[in-house]
Parts: sequence; C-alpha cells; structure tokens
Amino acid sequence: MKPPLKIAIAGLGTVGTGVAQLLARNGDLIADRAGRRIELRAVLEKDRKHDRGVDLSKPKWHGTFRELAADPGIEVVVELIGGTEGVALDLVKDALSAGKHVVTANKAMLAHHGNELAALAAKRGVALAFEAAVAGGIPILKALREGLAANTVKRVYGILNGTCNYILSQMSDSRRDFGDVLKEAQKLGYAEKDPSFDIDGVDTAHKLALLAAVAFGGAVDFKGVFVEGIRHVSALDIEFAEELGYRIKLLGLARLTADGLEQRVHPCMVQESAPIAHVEGVFNAVVVEGDFVGRVMLEGRGAGAEPTASAVVADLIDIAMGRAGPGLKNPAVRHKTAPMERHKGAYYLRLMVLDRPGVIADVAAALRDEKVSMEQMIQRGRGPAGEAVPVVITTHETIEDSMLRALKRIAKLKTVREQPRMIRVETL
Ligand SMILES: NC(=O)c1ccc[n+]([C@@H]2O[C@H](COP(=O)([O-])OP(=O)(O)OC[C@H]3O[C@@H](n4cnc5c(N)ncnc54)[C@H](OP(=O)(O)O)[C@@H]3O)[C@@H](O)[C@H]2O)c1
Repeated sequence: MKPPLKIAIAGLGTVGTGVAQLLARNGDLIADRAGRRIELRAVLEKDRKHDRGVDLSKPKWHGTFRELAADPGIEVVVELIGGTEGVALDLVKDALSAGKHVVTANKAMLAHHGNELAALAAKRGVALAFEAAVAGGIPILKALREGLAANTVKRVYGILNGTCNYILSQMSDSRRDFGDVLKEAQKLGYAEKDPSFDIDGVDTAHKLALLAAVAFGGAVDFKGVFVEGIRHVSALDIEFAEELGYRIKLLGLARLTADGLEQRVHPCMVQESAPIAHVEGVFNAVVVEGDFVGRVMLEGRGAGAEPTASAVVADLIDIAMGRAGPGLKNPAVRHKTAPMERHKGAYYLRLMVLDRPGVIADVAAALRDEKVSMEQMIQRGRGPAGEAVPVVITTHETIEDSMLRALKRIAKLKTVREQPRMIRVETL
C-alpha cells in the first residue's frame, strides 16, 4: 500500500467533527478503495476540551492558521471554519501557496473568491476541491465532471437550500403562512436565528454560481446571479398554485443563452408532473439536462454533519488517488451575464382587487398594452363591499421587462389594493 495521505481539519464544528468521525469509522474501507490510508495528522480549533465523540488525541493541535499552513507534515488542509473572508480565506490562500491541497465546504468563500483561489491552486499544481459546497451530500460536481462529461449541458437547476424547501413544503402541507412556519423551523433547528442568508436566496445563489461554473466552464460569477428569496410567498399563492397544477419551489437555475450565462434564484411555479416538484422537506435535488443523456436528477441531503462529511471525504479520496484538479477549469474565462430583463418565461400574477365593474378590463388592458398575453384567470368569489378579493392570472411566455412594466401599471390602478404578487412559471 502507498504511504498515507496526511490531512488536517481546520474547524471541528458540525462538518469538521463529521469528517473526523467518518474517517475513524470507515478508515479501512476507504484505504481499500483509495489504495492508501487517509490519516488525520493535525487539527486547528479553539476549543480542545469539547467531547466530539471521536478520539482526537493523536493529531497535533495547532494554535494558529499560519502554523497549520506551514506544517510540513500536512499534505491536505480541509477548511471547515466557514465565512466569506477572515481565517478561512487566509488559511486557504496560505495552504495553497505552501503547495498543499485544499478541500472545503465553504460556498460563501468560493462564490466570492473561487476564481482567485482556483488560479492559485493551478499555479501551485495542487487540488482545490469543493464537492461539499454544492448541495451537501449530493455528488453533483463529480457527476458533471465525470459521468456527464460527454454532454453539452443545456440547463442545470436545483433545490439547493434545505431551509427554504422545508419552509415551502410545510406551508403547502399545513396551509400556514411564511412567518409561522419560519418560527417553527427556527425552533426545530432547520433555520438559523438570522435566517436571511437562506430565505433571501443568497445561500442558493452561492451554490448556483459554483454549479454553473462547473457545468458551463469558466469563472464563478456570483455577481451575475439574479436573486429573489421566499419571504413574499404566501399560503394563498401556494393554494392557487396547487389549483393550477403547480408546486412552489425555490430553485437556482442556470443556462447559456444567446445573451450569455443566465443564473437565476427565485421562487418558481413548477408543474406537478416534474420530479423536482416532489422533493420535500430539507432534501435537495439537482437536475442536469445534457444533450445526449437527457434529464438526470440527483436527490439527497444537502446539509448535516454526515452527508456533508461524505462529500468532503470523497474529495479526499480523489486527492489520495491523484485524480483531483484545481477545482475550476478556466477561472479566467468570463461568460457574458444574460440580463434578467431579457429573460423569457411565463408568469403567475396574484392581485387583490375591489370587486367592481371594469376592474378586470383595466388589468387586461395593462397587460395588452405591454404585449403580455393572458393564459388563464381565476376570480375567487365576491367580496363584501369594500373588501378586496384575489384574482389570479397566468400568462403565456413573455419578456420579463414587459411583465414588469405591466405590473407597474397594474399596481397603480385604484381598484388594486395590495402590491401585486408575481411568481415565475418554469417549464421543467
Ligand atoms: N453544516 C452543514 O450542514 C454544512 C453543509 C454544507 C456546507 N457547510 C459549510 O461548511 C463550513 C463549516 O460549517 P459548520 O456547519 O461545520 O460550521 P460550525 O459548526 O460553525 O463549525 C465551524 C468551526 O470552526 C471553528 N472556528 C471558528 N473560527 C476558528 C478559528 N479562527 N480557528 C479555529 N477554529 C475556528 C468554530 O469554533 P467555535 O464554535 O468555537 O467558534 C467551529 O467549531 C461552512 O463553510 C459551511 O457553509 C456546512
């Protein structure tokens, strides 16, 4: 057997502890598959006393990231501290510069600094591996790089944030509103105290930018991602969606269009018959559409100590076997960003209107004037005098810009009582 691969874990929190436990429990079978052992030789962590349910008496405990990056006995640094900048970024830069391979689950850091880090890894001839940064335990990057490598990717999309999917699934099952379900998710530990990164779509956007860079080649373009979260999705919209044969999901979607790379994160109306419509709770799923393979969907746990550790260790096995690269093929190549105003798609609109003669005609006129063609309309009951009733309209394919202009005109109508709600309809 070849000499062991000597690794260090920086950050023994949820994922770091999971990785240490996995290596301890499955060490023999990993050695068998990789042809060498993966040995935890060092750690970087502030709290030494905490019982992590795994024997950590053998590895060396480093006090600072500089000490770890300079440790000549370490070949791979596994960065599991987290954070866009700070210690995580400094450590990764130093480790790569020192000629060490890096494995990380840190999507925020890579979304912002991935190009620079991948270029550094390529320059030093070492690996920068980040399977765990996109959809946790789902091996989607490996699938794109290996099993699907023969295809031109037409489109890639997915449910990339378990917190949002849990909230939307619960809203649909229990017919409760967003605020109620969010509070419950926080109590159960499915949502953070400050949930904004998740519910405002930022976490999904981080992952989408990485996924798109791998699927379409070229640089990570986080700034080019259009992002809209789920705060405005209401129980009423979920009810209407179901009446129309849709489910509402927060998706990250990317494709190359004639206008450039389109990357979007927003709530989507997804037809009931699409496999991804049935991915529930904290589960994630990623769909790749390839020109020869057609549609491939991978579903699994997108977070948690064990699934994320599974992805981290898969990267370590690749490094042990000498088959890992710098992470991004062409970090210097930038695709043009496709402007969101030119996005073409169908739309769901919900208005709260006063039930008066001529209201629908005014709304229809606004749509007609902006060349938006209606597909269906649902008008719910008759409200008591002075009370608004919901009207739902779905449109045929149109340009986002026209839709937004029509929406502005509709919002100004005296009989329209609340800000109109718009959700994009995706044909998947
Ligand atoms: N959790 C998941 O399911 C999951 C899934 C996919 C990706 N990720 C990514 O994986 C990374 C780690 O996430 P996590 O959930 O494991 O976070 P976590 O539980 O907060 O763990 C981070 C650990 O790093 C330690 N740490 C912080 N600053 C340090 C420093 N200067 N030196 C040494 N140790 C330091 C923390 O110690 P203290 O607690 O004492 O500060 C903590 O033990 C993040 O980038 C995250 O986005 C997580």
